[in-house]
Amino acid sequence: MLTCQSDSFSLDPAVHYLNCAYMSPLPLRVEEAGIRAIRAKRNPALIQQSDFFSGPQSVKRLFAQLIGAENASSISLLPSVSYGIATAAKNVPVRKGQNIVLLHEQFPSNVYTWQRVASDARVAIRTVKLPSSGTNRSRAWTDAILEQIDSDTAVVAMPIVHWTDGTLFDVAAIGRKAHKFGAALILDGTQSVGALPFDVQEVRPDALIVGGYKWLMGPYSCGLAYWGDRFANGVPLEENWINRLGSENFAGLVDYQAGYELGATRFDVGEKSNFALLPMLNEALCMLLEWGPQNIQNYLSNLLQPWEDSSRNLGFQLGPSSSRGSHLFGLHLPPNLDVERVKNALISKSVSVSVRGKAIRVAPHVYNTSEDMQALVDALEVSLTY
Ligand SMILES: Cc1ncc(COP(=O)(O)O)c(C=O)c1O
Repeated sequence: MLTCQSDSFSLDPAVHYLNCAYMSPLPLRVEEAGIRAIRAKRNPALIQQSDFFSGPQSVKRLFAQLIGAENASSISLLPSVSYGIATAAKNVPVRKGQNIVLLHEQFPSNVYTWQRVASDARVAIRTVKLPSSGTNRSRAWTDAILEQIDSDTAVVAMPIVHWTDGTLFDVAAIGRKAHKFGAALILDGTQSVGALPFDVQEVRPDALIVGGYKWLMGPYSCGLAYWGDRFANGVPLEENWINRLGSENFAGLVDYQAGYELGATRFDVGEKSNFALLPMLNEALCMLLEWGPQNIQNYLSNLLQPWEDSSRNLGFQLGPSSSRGSHLFGLHLPPNLDVERVKNALISKSVSVSVRGKAIRVAPHVYNTSEDMQALVDALEVSLTY
């Protein structure tokens, strides 16, 4: 059983940080890996040519293990989620008259590219809203998505959990329906992979794009993607020397090569060897594999259990645990409670969460304790008495 890991971080004890969906705090061992990595460039003579390849390969292997991918050759390195989505969009054929399925209020990095595709190819975007009826948000929204997928669907591009309130989608069922019609399933796993178990063998997405600075606990500007067979002969966004065949032979680089290195390497971002940041992501992935996403969920669900009723008793609505993970969820305000009041109360109790529309997004992790949850309940209580 995973116990509280607050000693692995250097969070300010005066702040109740319940906001990993915004950005994870840097674990101490990841910080140390970063300092070592920055210092390494003091003496570039010690940076070997093989280091250009071994760093990326190690990170890919660890990520493949985290998501159950068979091997590292299906993984690529990204600077951002939008880069991964743009790569996917460049390689999914979309014909006039087809449609692209997205979700209402999906994160913009997984929307703007599809809007561009839709206007260039003159296809429709079907934006699926949460239906107003149905008590189980997760089931109702998944069913509404399934209804929108048909023989004209080219792409379903969506998250695993909604970034605003953590609503969990049955992406395996959505994938089955999409594949039945030949459509591609492109998943954004940024708000769950690392903290919530995910298995590519089970879900079979065509692509899974994950930003690295939230639940993967790495630095900013380093993300990862998994690519299924559909992308085996894809064209990358940029043509970088290091992704071409034989790039290990630096002396022969001007013998230009037409072919790419194995598998998804073709999609790697330029300067993928990122000597300062990749060792940090590598360390973060090692740490997450030691902890295990299911153990993280178990820790968090134990942390939340006593607290859920207290917040419901105060009139704040929280979905059932079956429709969300324990790492990210929305607390919906009681009717007539002004969101500004809640914001002020949270500040007065030094609670860091995000306010998204009329809901508070709470995103705890293994550094959080029952004192943090108590501070949140205290803040909710104060907001009712202003
Ligand atoms: C669901 C989701 N996807 C992606 C991102 C980040 O996108 P990008 O890496 O393009 O900045 C965020 C940031 O909050 C997010 O919540």
